[in-house]
Amino acid sequence: MADLDTAVLARTAPLYERVKRVIPPFEWATFADDVDAILALKRRRNAVVLAHNYQTPEIFHGVADIVGDSLLLAREATKVDADIIVLAGVHFMAETAKLLNPAKTVLIPDTGAGCSLADSITAQDVRLMRARYPGVPIVTYVNTSAAVKAESDICCTSGNALKVVESLGVERVIMLPDEYLAQNIARQTTTKIIAWKGHCEVHELFTAADVRELREGHPGITILAHPECPPDVVAEADFAGSTAAMSDYVETKRPPRVVLLTECSMSDNIAASHPDLEFVRPCNLCPHMKRITLKNIRQALETNRHEVTIDPEIADRARLSVERMLAP
Ligand code: 13P
Ligand code: SF4
Repeated sequence: MADLDTAVLARTAPLYERVKRVIPPFEWATFADDVDAILALKRRRNAVVLAHNYQTPEIFHGVADIVGDSLLLAREATKVDADIIVLAGVHFMAETAKLLNPAKTVLIPDTGAGCSLADSITAQDVRLMRARYPGVPIVTYVNTSAAVKAESDICCTSGNALKVVESLGVERVIMLPDEYLAQNIARQTTTKIIAWKGHCEVHELFTAADVRELREGHPGITILAHPECPPDVVAEADFAGSTAAMSDYVETKRPPRVVLLTECSMSDNIAASHPDLEFVRPCNLCPHMKRITLKNIRQALETNRHEVTIDPEIADRARLSVERMLAP
């Protein structure tokens, strides 16, 4: 056993190099066996792991083949050649991958990995909105079920919401279900936006008072916020953008002292490659994202669970909404 552990640690040592600033050696020793097993299972089963930016560093830097925001994960899902996609993220991301590459087996390691935004609206709600505002196009955030996407005209992510809204060339759009994203986009466009009352349970916790306290307590700090944060938070931040946009901001502008008002693992994953920058943390954990672990990724690959399936009639309509968003 001791020999095996030594061999596993040696094989995973190059990966540990990537995360050594955010994972202490004793903790990596508890991850190495699963990391090693997942790498072997991916080869044996011709599988890839797509991981969202909110996955913990041992997943993000240790076993993922593709990492990114919701938009990048959707785009990349269309190109996957492997037989199996393991989606290390939440359920709507796995559904989106299945919609876009239906011939592949898509696995979500924990079916309880939901999203408060996806839970805030049903297909029936969307039908009611359409009846209430006849002729007004419905732009639906990807953080929704396939059934909700199926009732929509076009999807968006936080990375392309403004572009999608303006591409429609109309006076009014309905934007579902994130009220704060809708309000944050409304400030950037002349298109009138009708919103829904859904909120992200992680980002709604940040307040404008937090932003002011951060500025007072950490002179010179650069404050980045996700557009799911309330509008007064976004207004007082230095920059707002999708998880990929925040990551790019740090890469290109290299703020010496920075805080990311978003899910906690974002800072960990970026900090792992930027020892020279100071990451100030308050952050909030997404309990859904945190359901995904190395252990259940390994189980997913060992036992083919949990396979994502979508009713074909719903899938056909939902796919159109996602594909319209991805069209150049
Ligand atoms: P991004 O598309 O910016 O990665 O956001 C996804 C998400 O769930 C944010 O809470
Ligand atoms: Fe949903 Fe918020 Fe978690 Fe993102 S962070 S998956 S929007 S609950």
